[in-house]
Amino acid sequence: MNATLKSLVSTPQALAALIKNGEVIGVSGFTPSGYPKVIPTALAERGKALKADGVDFGISLYTGASVGDECDGALARAGIMKVRMPYQSNKDLRNGINNGTIQYFDQHLSHMAKLVRQGSVPRPTTAIIEAVDVEVHGDKARVFLAGSGGCSATYMLVADRIFIELNSHYGLALKGFHDIYIPESQPFVDVIPLKSPSDRIGKPYVEVALSKIQGIVETNMPDKMGGFEPVDAESAAIAAHILDFLAFERKHGRLPEGLPYQSGVGNVANAVLAAMAKDPNQKPLSLYTEVIQDSVFEIIENDKLIIASGASLTFSIAGQQKFKDNIEKWRDKFVIRQQEISNNPELVRRLGTISMNTAIEMDIFGNVNSTHIMGTQMMNGIGGSGDFARNAYLPIFMTSSTAKDRAISCIVPMVSHTDHHEHSTQIFVTERGLCDLRGLAPVPRARKVIEICAHPDYQPLLTEYLDYGLKNAKGKHTPHTLSRAFEFHTRFLETGTMKL
Ligand code: COA
Repeated sequence: MNATLKSLVSTPQALAALIKNGEVIGVSGFTPSGYPKVIPTALAERGKALKADGVDFGISLYTGASVGDECDGALARAGIMKVRMPYQSNKDLRNGINNGTIQYFDQHLSHMAKLVRQGSVPRPTTAIIEAVDVEVHGDKARVFLAGSGGCSATYMLVADRIFIELNSHYGLALKGFHDIYIPESQPFVDVIPLKSPSDRIGKPYVEVALSKIQGIVETNMPDKMGGFEPVDAESAAIAAHILDFLAFERKHGRLPEGLPYQSGVGNVANAVLAAMAKDPNQKPLSLYTEVIQDSVFEIIENDKLIIASGASLTFSIAGQQKFKDNIEKWRDKFVIRQQEISNNPELVRRLGTISMNTAIEMDIFGNVNSTHIMGTQMMNGIGGSGDFARNAYLPIFMTSSTAKDRAISCIVPMVSHTDHHEHSTQIFVTERGLCDLRGLAPVPRARKVIEICAHPDYQPLLTEYLDYGLKNAKGKHTPHTLSRAFEFHTRFLETGTMKL
């Protein structure tokens, strides 16, 4: 290590001690990938000790997306996280958001870096960044990020100081996987020069003033990412419906070959890509996505991956080992971007991306709730689903038709919170079937969603709701009955089931 950098090597505790009450901290990380691990843990310990002494201490945390428990979980449990943006998926953090102690700004992931650069949200003053290497070039430092792009480049550029967690888990072999490009600011913007998911338009490192790096901690820790569930019957059915539909659309000339795929977070999304990998009719494909999960290995092993472009390598522990074992062989198969590029609406539209995201509930008129349980409790956040769905060539939303042992219908009269409205949605899929909403006015759309996607336990109740509205509502275009629109939800809250 360069002598200047060596002089900056410190301990997590010493660096955590420098963080001031009320600071905004911007960290690397996008999903549990490439996030700082030991400094946030030490900060949480310090916060707990201060609180025990009766000292009020709190910070705001900006990330790329969700990050691992050593960061989100530890800081939330310590009670020192006051503000959080733009996405999370941690149980303890979720509890803090839902009990009102943590202010959460749930934001389209493509917007976050720009909001920070234009000063629309308070500026991070400290950036804590996981990296695999730092090179010194005169008075500049080149920081080679770990497993995710996120908003790291922007946080480093705007912060007064940067702490680096130098993680040797992937180590130097990861150098070269990133493509760091920061768009210009309005009104002087140029076209982002990306025409294909495999294009590299930036640099493999973030360059900052060397003087900004004020502490380095060396680690060797994997990303704490749980494994994926084995593909269950419902996920397999959803995957099969999607593959049949895509083949049908191609056959009828409505879907050109070669459009890239975006696939959301979680088991269902992983299952759909795994099914594509095994499908003998599937031609080699590109991913223009945000999260690259373990299913990519099956695609590679079946000789079907052209390129996986995303904001993070979100591999299980076994997946991380597999990636390490093959890292040189697979070097030209991956590119990791900053999230304002991986999720950029203009690029998603330009490339003709096919997006596949999971919903919590969908309503008969085509609206989607991706974030709130029963309309009030935050689950994770909108993540990139809006960046992609609104701009995709073909936006697909999927969910099981029921949840909680069928006590809940995921097809409801009116979603209890709207993330994606009827004008942005096109295809709904459950294990029961796939419904093409395109070109359908609300009433025939509702009939089709009930017939194709809803579970038989709930089809009569949903039909009754629609027919009642058609008979009694003043407006027959979207015949809601407002006094009954949430009867499914209220019934569940009162009786523990949406069934009558
Ligand atoms: N009403 C109430 N609870 C519901 C429900 C509904 N309609 N549908 C699902 N749930 C519950 C499940 O029972 C489960 O509860 P548990 O945690 O107590 O077991 C929980 O919600 C999560 O459901 P699950 O089926 O395990 O979801 P998942 O892991 O496939 O994730 C989302 C689904 C919607 C939460 C997740 O995809 C998400 O956060 N999406 C928004 C962001 C996004 O789309 N990002 C991708 C863009 S690239």
